Amino acid sequence: MLPGAHSRSPTTGLGRRIDPFPLPRSQGARSEFRAMARPHDPAAPVPPTPLPVDVPAAELLNGFIGSHVLYALTVTGVLDALVVTGPAPVPVADLAEVGDAEPSVLRALLRTAHRLGLVALDEEGDAVELTTAGHQAYRVRGYFTASVGGFGDVFRHLDTLLTWPDEFGRSVLQNGHYTALGCAQNWSFQRPIFDEATGDLGFAKVADIGCGAAARLIHLVGARPDAVGVGVDVSGEACQLARQNVKSAGLDDRITIVQADMRDVVASPRSFPQVADADLVTSYFILHHFVGERVGGRPFLAALRSAFPQARHFVFADGFREPAEGSVSTDSVGGGSVGADSVGTGSAGTGSVGTGSVGTAPGGAPSPLFTLAYQLFHDFTGVPLWTHAEQRDMFLDTGYVIERELPFGHPLEWLFVLSPAPGPA
Ligand SMILES: C[S@@+](CC[C@H](N)C(=O)[O-])C[C@H]1O[C@@H](n2cnc3c(N)ncnc32)[C@H](O)[C@@H]1O
Repeated sequence: MLPGAHSRSPTTGLGRRIDPFPLPRSQGARSEFRAMARPHDPAAPVPPTPLPVDVPAAELLNGFIGSHVLYALTVTGVLDALVVTGPAPVPVADLAEVGDAEPSVLRALLRTAHRLGLVALDEEGDAVELTTAGHQAYRVRGYFTASVGGFGDVFRHLDTLLTWPDEFGRSVLQNGHYTALGCAQNWSFQRPIFDEATGDLGFAKVADIGCGAAARLIHLVGARPDAVGVGVDVSGEACQLARQNVKSAGLDDRITIVQADMRDVVASPRSFPQVADADLVTSYFILHHFVGERVGGRPFLAALRSAFPQARHFVFADGFREPAEGSVSTDSVGGGSVGADSVGTGSAGTGSVGTGSVGTAPGGAPSPLFTLAYQLFHDFTGVPLWTHAEQRDMFLDTGYVIERELPFGHPLEWLFVLSPAPGPA
């Protein structure tokens, strides 16, 4: 059991124990209390108060349940099967086989998803299909995979972390597999934006930093018959998954996966010649770990540029913090792309990852999907997040030219295409 997670008596925050079930202190008060509780007293008429249902709190709790149901249906492959087989209704018995699921439990999940408007069930509850809302949720399922599967342990133990923040990384863990899987699932709506932004980049060798499952690396190298690639990831599990995916894609003769800590590569590129000779460097959704002050911020970005002397382009994608309320920001969150050579108008309008009505920011605008989870998780784990404007400044200060930048399907996630500024690195 986590230290004290269920055994602690509550305290006032000053270390004094408080009694969770207080009785009146004076004897007189105690008698009064007993008198009030005499069983033969006629019950006082209490007008029935209906439970509030149509309130933000109900939406909040329903969202909690719905997120877990959506996550379970996603990671067991049930949603994939509904999408592949649809639009016709699919027998629930067939779905149970796909998801290796106990049929009665699957039915309970589907009934809940039905109540939440994600699926339509026939009258007997034997056949199911995705609704329009279900298709929309499927499109952004990666955020649910990352929030529930990747960060879920942290969110379940916020009480523990409040008192013992150092438990993060010990008894309270991020699940890197589900974080990386969530990232890979988002690729389906990011890919068209990526292709538009990078389609004309020429390169012979790409190095992908923090490659995870290698979906993006496989896509890049697979589309260019003469190119080779190297994926770098610190996690043995991620490397294993990446190698399997590279092999399944038939690219194991052109893509190598190297297990290494990117900070070591940047600090000592000569020790990693098979990585450092790349002419294109990519990194998706991990840069914030490296540019956090604890890792090095601007010095890291400058060193990264120097570690790849042959790089003609750097392609970085990452998620950013919402600008603080009242701050003057050069961010154009949700307003299309900024930059010397903007590609399209961005996708923050139609088809982008939307906002909900619960989770409204102090300034009034609702937080986009996933942003609350992303920010809270990083606040707890001590990795600082930048705003998009701060990240731009950092690139410009550390020897990069911003060639293109555009929202990556989410108003706070951006794709940058950079080149090294002329002059010494
Ligand atoms: C959020 S996942 C993103 C995976 C992949 N880039 C994607 O977009 O699908 C972050 C990845 O970075 C890797 N990573 C974290 N710290 C790293 C480090 N210091 N060096 C190399 N890889 C690292 C993690 O193991 C994980 O696979």
